[in-house]
Amino acid sequence: MKTLICKEPGNLVYSDLAIPEPANGNTLLRVRRIGICGTDLHAFGGTQPYFNYPRVLGHELAAEVVTPGGDFKPGDIVTLIPYLNCQTCLACRTGKPNCCANIKVLGVHTDGGMAEYIEVPTRLLLPAQGLSLDELALVEPLAIGAHGIRRAGVQKDEFVLVVGAGPIGLGAMEFARIAGGKVIALDINDQRLNFCKQKLKVDHTINAITDDVVARLQEITGGDMPTVIIDATGSQKAINNAFQYMAHGARFVLIGLQKGDISFSHPEFHKREATLMSSRNATHEDFDHVLSSMKNNLVDPANYITHRVKFDEVAHDFPTWSDPVNGVIKVMVEVS
Ligand SMILES: NC(=O)c1ccc[n+]([C@@H]2O[C@H](COP(=O)([O-])OP(=O)(O)OC[C@H]3O[C@@H](n4cnc5c(N)ncnc54)[C@H](O)[C@@H]3O)[C@@H](O)[C@H]2O)c1
Ligand SMILES: [Zn+2]
Ligand SMILES: [Zn+2]
Repeated sequence: MKTLICKEPGNLVYSDLAIPEPANGNTLLRVRRIGICGTDLHAFGGTQPYFNYPRVLGHELAAEVVTPGGDFKPGDIVTLIPYLNCQTCLACRTGKPNCCANIKVLGVHTDGGMAEYIEVPTRLLLPAQGLSLDELALVEPLAIGAHGIRRAGVQKDEFVLVVGAGPIGLGAMEFARIAGGKVIALDINDQRLNFCKQKLKVDHTINAITDDVVARLQEITGGDMPTVIIDATGSQKAINNAFQYMAHGARFVLIGLQKGDISFSHPEFHKREATLMSSRNATHEDFDHVLSSMKNNLVDPANYITHRVKFDEVAHDFPTWSDPVNGVIKVMVEVS
C-alpha cells in the first residue's frame, strides 16, 4: 500500500508498505479522506514539541471498513476517535480518556492515516450516519472546539470571546453559537476575521493589532466583558493578554497550547473569582455532538475546505500549506 512517511522535518516520502494484518480487537480500514491539521504542518515544519521521526502523519480521517468487527461490516463508512487511550489509568477509569496518562494520538505518537490502509481499535470507530466523507474527516477538528465549549459550560445569551480564528477556533465559535452563546472573534489576521463574518456569521470581530480590544469588548458587552474566553491561538502573548478581558465570574478555557509558562495578576484573577481550565482532545460525547450537529445542518463543514488534493499530490503541495498567503483553512486529501 502507498504510505506517505515524514522521514524528518521537511521531508515527505512515498513508500510501498505491506497492508497491516489487524490485531485482535482492531479493524482494517481503507482510508478515503484525510484532513490536514496544524499538528501535521508543525510536524512537517519541525516545530511540534516531543515529535519523533519517521512518522506517518494524519489523524482527521474518513474511511471504509475492510475487515468486519463489532457492529461494522465491510463497506461501512466511518470516522474515528484518533486518541488511543490505555483504558486502565485514572483518567480512563473516570471518564476522561481524552487526557489518558498514556495516550497515543494517531499520526502524532504512533503512525497515522496518510496511507491507503490503517488498522485501528474497533471501539474507536464511529458510523457515518449518512454523512459524506468530507464531513466525516472534519468531525475530529470540530470535536476539539466542541470539547472546549462543553468545558466552559456555555449558557444561552452569554458572551463568548474566542481568541484565534484558525480551524480550531472556528470550531469553538460554531459550538459556542450552538450552545446559545453570543460569539466575539479576536484575531490578528483580517482575512480570517472576514471569514468568521462571512461564512460563520459571527456578529462581532476584533483585530488585536488595529483595535483597542478592551474598549471594543466593553462596547459589545455593554460594559460587562465576556463571561467565557476560549484561547485557540497557542500564543503565549495572546493567552496572557486575555486574562484582562474576563468578566467577573468568567471561565477561561485554554484549547490552544504553547510551550512556555503563562502568568497573570493574582489580585485581578481573585477579584473576578475566575476559573482557568485546559481542554485536551475530545471525548466520545463531543464526537457524537459534532455528528448530530452536522446531521441537523447546524454546522456546514463545506465552509472549512479551502484546498483539495489527491493523495499523490500531498508530498509536493504540503510545503505551501503553512504559508499564510495561500489562505489555507482546511486541506482535504482524497485518497480514493
Ligand atoms: N486542545 C487540543 O487538544 C488541541 C487540538 C488541536 C490543536 N490545538 C491547539 O489549538 C491552537 C490552534 O490551532 P489551529 O490549528 O487553529 O492554529 P492556527 O495557527 O491555524 O490558528 C491560530 C490563530 O491564532 C491567531 N493568533 C496568533 N496570535 C494571536 C494573538 N496574539 N492574538 C489573537 N490571535 C492570534 C492566528 O492569526 C491564527 O488565526 C494551537 O495552539 C494548537 O496546538 C489544541
Ligand atoms: Zn487535528
Ligand atoms: Zn488511560
